Amino acid sequence: MGLSSPLPAGRLTTDPWWRSAVVYQVYPRSFADADGDGIGDLRGILDHLDHIADLGVDVVWLSPVYRSPQDDNGYDISDYQDIDPMFGTLRDLDDLIAALHERGMRLVMDLVVNHTSDEHPWFEESRQGRDTATADWYIWRDPRPGFEGGTPGAEPNNWGSFFSGSAWQWVPERGQYYLHLFSRKQPDLNWENPEVRSAVFRMMGWWLDRGIDGFRMDVVNFLSKDPELPDGEVGPSGWGDGFPYFSYGPRIHDHLAEMRREVFDPRPGTYLTVGEMPGVTPEQGLRFTDSETGQLDMVFQFEHVSLDGEGSKWVHRPITVVDLKRSLARWQDALGTRGWNSLYWNNHDQPRVVSRWGDDGRFWYESATALATVLHLHRGTPYVYQGEELGMTNVDFQDIREFRDIESLNYYDAAVNQLGLDPDTVLAAMRRISRDNARAPMQWTDGEQAGFTSGRPWIDVNPNHSWLNAAAQRDDPTSVYAHYRMLIALRHSDPVVALGQFRLLLPEHPAIWAFEREHEGARAVVAANFTSEDVELALPETEGTRLLSTNYPDEGTPGLLRPWEARIHRT
Ligand code: NOJ
Repeated sequence: MGLSSPLPAGRLTTDPWWRSAVVYQVYPRSFADADGDGIGDLRGILDHLDHIADLGVDVVWLSPVYRSPQDDNGYDISDYQDIDPMFGTLRDLDDLIAALHERGMRLVMDLVVNHTSDEHPWFEESRQGRDTATADWYIWRDPRPGFEGGTPGAEPNNWGSFFSGSAWQWVPERGQYYLHLFSRKQPDLNWENPEVRSAVFRMMGWWLDRGIDGFRMDVVNFLSKDPELPDGEVGPSGWGDGFPYFSYGPRIHDHLAEMRREVFDPRPGTYLTVGEMPGVTPEQGLRFTDSETGQLDMVFQFEHVSLDGEGSKWVHRPITVVDLKRSLARWQDALGTRGWNSLYWNNHDQPRVVSRWGDDGRFWYESATALATVLHLHRGTPYVYQGEELGMTNVDFQDIREFRDIESLNYYDAAVNQLGLDPDTVLAAMRRISRDNARAPMQWTDGEQAGFTSGRPWIDVNPNHSWLNAAAQRDDPTSVYAHYRMLIALRHSDPVVALGQFRLLLPEHPAIWAFEREHEGARAVVAANFTSEDVELALPETEGTRLLSTNYPDEGTPGLLRPWEARIHRT
C-alpha cells in the first residue's frame, strides 16, 4: 500500500514558503486533556506534539484558546490577550510556540474580530450608553420606526442570525439593539470606527511580537457591512437573509489593506494570513489573494462544503462526484497562478469527510485515503483537521442530550419548537451535518475515553475508538496515517505537486475523479474511483508515466480501478 516507487528526493524551497506547506488544525477542546477536567488543553497539545511532527506538517493552526465564556467554544472572546484558564496560561502558550519552532513548525492563531464576546470589557462598556468611550464600537441601531423596542417586529432589520432567531438583541439600558450575526453573546464589532481597527491591529501586533507566525481570520469577509443594513429576502426560517449586505461589504478590501500595512508590513517575519470567507466567490477570492495586489496569502472558501445543503445546511441535497470535482476545478481555474486557495475536507465546523462523501463501512480505509489523495494533489495549501489523518468518522449521536454545539442546539429548538418539524427528522439532519461530529474527542488509544482524558469528556467519545485510534496506526505502514504522511512528503519534495498547473480530466465521468498537474514539462496524473464498485478506465494521459502510489496493496490491473482506488502517476 502507499508508495510504489520512491518519492522525488529533497525538500523544495518555494517562494513564498507556504506554497509547499501543509497545515494541521488543532481544536484544543477536543485534542488532548492533560489535567483531567474533561476538556482538552495546551499541555495536552504539548504532550502529543510527536504525533503532529511525525506527520510532517509545517504549520499548526490553533482554534481559539483566549479567555472566553465558551458560548461558541471560544469563538466568543472576552480577552484577546490572555488564555482561558480551562486551556492553561500564557506561559503554556509560549512553551507551545517554542516547542513547535524547535521542531521546525509554525503556529497560526485564530483571529476572531468580526465580533467579541458580550462579556468583553469593550462591549460591557458600550452597552451602558451612548456617551461611553466605546459607545460606537459595536453596531447599534434604534428600533424600527413605529415600533416599541423589545417587541416583535421592532428589530432594526429582518436579518436572521447564523445560529437561529433574529440577528438583533435589544438592550433596554441603552434603548437600542445590537447586531450579532452569530449568537447573541457574539456582538459584531463596528469596523467603520477607526478606533476599533487600531485596537485590533495593536492586539495582532502583540501576538506576532510574542512569536506566533500568523492568523487564520474568522469570517473575515464579514468585517465591512453595507451601512444601510437593508432588509434581506425572507427564507424558510422566517428571517431575512442579510448575506448580500455583509459578506462583501464596500470597505472590505480597504480594511484588509490597512491591516496589512499596519500589522504585517512593518514587521520582519514571513507571516501566514488565511482568510476564512464563507460565501466568497472565486472572483472575490482572487481579489483577496492575488500575489501582486491581494491583501491575504490564501482564502479558505466554502463552495464545496455547501453543495450538499439546499438553502440551509440542514436540508440535504445529495451530490455526486461530478459536483465536487467541478467545484474544486472551478476554484483551481479561477485562482490560476495569481491567487491561492486552502484545500480542505474537514475542520471544526464540518462533519467527517469519510462519512460525508466516502464509505465509512466496507471501504473505510480505501475511501479515506482516496479522498486524501485527491485533495492533496490539487494546487493550494492542504489542511488536515485533527483525526482526519486517522480516518475518524461521524459519531452516531442518538439523543439531543448528546449534542453540545450552540448552532445545533439552537437549530433543534427553532426547528422543533418553533417551526413544528418532526424531532426525528431534525435529529437525523443533525447526525449527518452537525459540527459536533468534528468535535468528538481525538482518538488516541483503544482505552478508557480513547486516551483523551482521565476524567469525563465534555462530549462523548466515538465508540469506534476500539479499532480506530492513533496508537493502532502510528507505526503501521498500511494505515491512513501513513498515507497522509506520504502525501505530505510528496508536497514537500515534488515541484509538480506544490506548483504545477491543474487540468481536470473526464469532467463528466460519473465515477472517476481524474486530473493532471504540470510543471516545467513534468506531469502528475491522478485518477480515483469514487464508488464502491470496480470501474474500467482508459486514461491516455497516463501514457509515459509510472505509478507513483496507489492505496491498494498491489498495482492491480491496468485499465481497472478497484473500489475507491486512488492512483498517482508521474512522468
Ligand atoms: C466560523 C468559525 O469557524 C465557527 O466555528 C464560528 O462559530 C463562527 N465563525 C463564529 O465565530
